[in-house]
Amino acid sequence: YVLILDFGGQYNQLIARRVRECSVFCEVKPHTMGVEQIRERHPIGIILTGGPASVYGEGAPSCPREIFELGVPVLGICYGAQLMSHLLGGEVGGVQNREYGKAEIQYLNSPLFEGIEKQGVCWMSHTDQILKLPQGFQATASTATCPYAAMENAERQLYGVQFHPEVLHTQQGTEILKNFLYRVCGAKGDWQMRDYAQRSIAEIREKVGDGKVLCALSGGVDSSVAAALLHRAVGRQLTCIFVDHGLMRKNEGDEVEEIFQNQFGSNFIRVDAQDRFLSRLAGVADPETKRKIIGEEFIRVFEQEGKKIGRVDYLVQGTIYPDVIESGAGEAAVIKSHHNVGGLPDYVDFKEIIEPLRMLFKDEVRALGTELGLPDSLVWRQPFPGPGLGVRVIGAVTREKLDILREADAIFRDEILRAGLQREINQYFAVMTDMRSVGVMGDERTYDYTLALRAVTTTDFMTAQWARIPYDILERVSNRIVNEVKHVNRIVYDITSKPPATIEWE
Ligand code: XMP
Repeated sequence: YVLILDFGGQYNQLIARRVRECSVFCEVKPHTMGVEQIRERHPIGIILTGGPASVYGEGAPSCPREIFELGVPVLGICYGAQLMSHLLGGEVGGVQNREYGKAEIQYLNSPLFEGIEKQGVCWMSHTDQILKLPQGFQATASTATCPYAAMENAERQLYGVQFHPEVLHTQQGTEILKNFLYRVCGAKGDWQMRDYAQRSIAEIREKVGDGKVLCALSGGVDSSVAAALLHRAVGRQLTCIFVDHGLMRKNEGDEVEEIFQNQFGSNFIRVDAQDRFLSRLAGVADPETKRKIIGEEFIRVFEQEGKKIGRVDYLVQGTIYPDVIESGAGEAAVIKSHHNVGGLPDYVDFKEIIEPLRMLFKDEVRALGTELGLPDSLVWRQPFPGPGLGVRVIGAVTREKLDILREADAIFRDEILRAGLQREINQYFAVMTDMRSVGVMGDERTYDYTLALRAVTTTDFMTAQWARIPYDILERVSNRIVNEVKHVNRIVYDITSKPPATIEWE
């Protein structure tokens, strides 16, 4: 077990993720944790994270000096290293040019750098740096502007790095962390997602006791995994409400129902609210208004069902770590209002929210889902916006357009699967445009809808490239859709990246 003390840096959860990737269990805790509490947890190693402060700044976050006397190996990263230096009698100060970005680095002999190239590239992001080492320390790496890019007191098992090994731009960064965990801390590296599941289940059980838990299922990966975890923990104390807004892809609602009702046997309630959503959306063409209506209606339906159940003690949310960062940013302009992140309306009477996935990244959520026995078809489901097909029918939403879109989208997805491109392309779907054009079919003039195909490759969905789908596959998709789906006579392929376009059309 490795303890990560958080000093507010932007990469802190990334450190935790890298540690988990090395199959070592870890926890991120606030830097204010007392030394007695730390001792009780028996960590085999402690990592001090980066942070935006300067060690001399007013109210600068700190930690007890005794941490360095526990006989437990400590690794300070960026601010963590500066703080270590400061607390142990070294000197820290501003540099003239703050260093940000990639830097050439020279590693010396150190357990941290064993087995890695002595010359490499690292990621720097700092204004202060260590100017004078504390007594008993020596420099173990340097860059052109940073003579103490790494320091250590091997005897006391104290290590500091000015750069960020957790960021992928630092070549060999994972190796460096691995060296700290395996060589210095003696970690066995036998932690698995199964252990995470077991621990979460135990924690949830303890917290919930014999209380009642309510979960809103959307059919997406995150809420499904959260529900499966809660079900494993508290069984029939959990009730899942699946609001079927009629804006899901072909067969998706039935699939969700089948998995949760049959496989988990939980108290599962599917609310068929299709008519309600369609009548509220009738004639509404503005994308933001549509999003707001769908979001509000969702809450209203959930509220009504929730009231039937009566008082519940806990509400489960499938918030994952990237949602936490995005909604915490606050400064960014609202490009699209995502209805499933951010504020929570007080729609049901409950005492607390449980967010069991709050610390996990998407791929870890998937691994957990598999561990919990969810099928691949659900675990590997591509991202799907909360407002569903409501924002993939351009302009006013009608039942007819939704049906056309569902059929065309199913064909597109089927062909991508057949071509084995489903993991290479990160998101792919059809869009029902608001445009009709003239065509000819069997000597007859047609005047029908234009359907667009959208497919992108991306890692974070913040930026994306349009996918280079081979022409023959596009051709097959086009032929099949025009032949098999009524009222579509033209297919176009979207070749814009994000930015300037977004992934979804609305
Ligand atoms: P855009 O269209 O903004 O989409 O480039 C980025 C990613 O977010 C998904 N998306 C949503 N996800 N609720 C969600 O959970 C929403 O309201 C929503 N809108 C867009 C989109 O599918 C893409 O993966």
